[in-house]
Amino acid sequence: MIDVLNIRNQFPILNQKINANTLIYFDNGATVQKPLSVINAINNYYTHSNANIHRGVHTLSRIASELYENSRTTIAHFFNVSNAQQLIFTSGTTESINLIAQGLSKSILTEGDEIILSQYEHHSNILPWQLWAQENNGHLKVIPLNSNQELDLEKFETLITKKTKIISIAHVSNTLGVISNIEKIIKIAKKHNLVIVLDGAQSAPHMQIDLQKLEVDFFVCSAHKMYGPTGVGILYMNEYWLNNLPISKTGGGTIKSVTFNETIYAEGALRFEPGTPNISGVIGFGAAVNFINEIKIENIYKHELELINYIQNKLLELPEVVLYGVSNVKAGVISFNIKNNHPFDVGTLLDKYGIAVRTGHHCTQPLMQFLQIPGTVRVSFAVYNTKQEIDFFIEKLKKVILMLS
Ligand SMILES: Cc1ncc(COP(=O)(O)O)c(C=O)c1O
Repeated sequence: MIDVLNIRNQFPILNQKINANTLIYFDNGATVQKPLSVINAINNYYTHSNANIHRGVHTLSRIASELYENSRTTIAHFFNVSNAQQLIFTSGTTESINLIAQGLSKSILTEGDEIILSQYEHHSNILPWQLWAQENNGHLKVIPLNSNQELDLEKFETLITKKTKIISIAHVSNTLGVISNIEKIIKIAKKHNLVIVLDGAQSAPHMQIDLQKLEVDFFVCSAHKMYGPTGVGILYMNEYWLNNLPISKTGGGTIKSVTFNETIYAEGALRFEPGTPNISGVIGFGAAVNFINEIKIENIYKHELELINYIQNKLLELPEVVLYGVSNVKAGVISFNIKNNHPFDVGTLLDKYGIAVRTGHHCTQPLMQFLQIPGTVRVSFAVYNTKQEIDFFIEKLKKVILMLS
């Protein structure tokens, strides 16, 4: 059992009124609110320890470097990564996928190759691959959804040919909230020697992830969806890629030695982190993971799943509502529409009651094309959300339905 009231007290933003109502923040899939411990960690860094890292012998630089590297260790433990150097700090999921796509384009990908994605990928896990495909006569192949709006994994294996090199897939759909059967996907992918890229943007905030068990080649996520600051995330790579992925960005901080003719690069994470990184962001990310650890990610998952099942059952009682991706094993997210109404109208009216939901295509236009809808209303939860908030939301949603009918 988690103490939601105590947790809510750690989020000052939740106490404010929006349009004369107490804020109900159901847009956590886009970005989650930040606890005081994260805000204070960033504040403390700038107040007491601000200095550039890694290259200074003075005290503040040593402290800043230690705080930065401590975050790497904390996050490595969180994902059960044995060597913290396998975690590269980037600006977030999007940058991480771009770096992987660029690195693989210089190593394993050749003209005409194929990359497998799924129907519910976020644009950030489509466009970097599409860019490569357009420039190299490559092909994107898509795992379709079955009638339950889950990945049709029977079809996955039939898509694989000798030209298939990579599968890059969301662990959890940011629009439907459904959890990919990643163990099965990995098994099939390994049988065919595919490189596996796992987009954990929507799984890392909600579920326990053990990267030693999962054995993917790459895993990516963003701090801002995990109670941390914006502009920072990770790119995890296994030991093989840590030593072999060609770099796509370079500059100060990545090297052992430089002449005008030749550079010898540093080993480990530094090779992939050119320039002054987002030091305060990384420190805030470490504090965010400590916040999750205090509650325990398993407890967060349980609490949010209860909320998902609670809201799903309430919505299923409303004949005007069409729900997408209905399932009782989901992480964090549900999507729906009010029949014959545009999601923007529903979202705008809910905002009048202080309820923040996301509306639109959620950067998953190919999924919208499959569902033949312009968008959905998406409710996404975090650990501080409650059943009382859901009750208020349902009461106001009924009013919105009346207003729109
Ligand atoms: C599944 C998924 N992948 C990628 C992204 C992109 O994340 P970011 O904007 O933090 O880079 C998101 C963001 O919503 C997402 O939900």
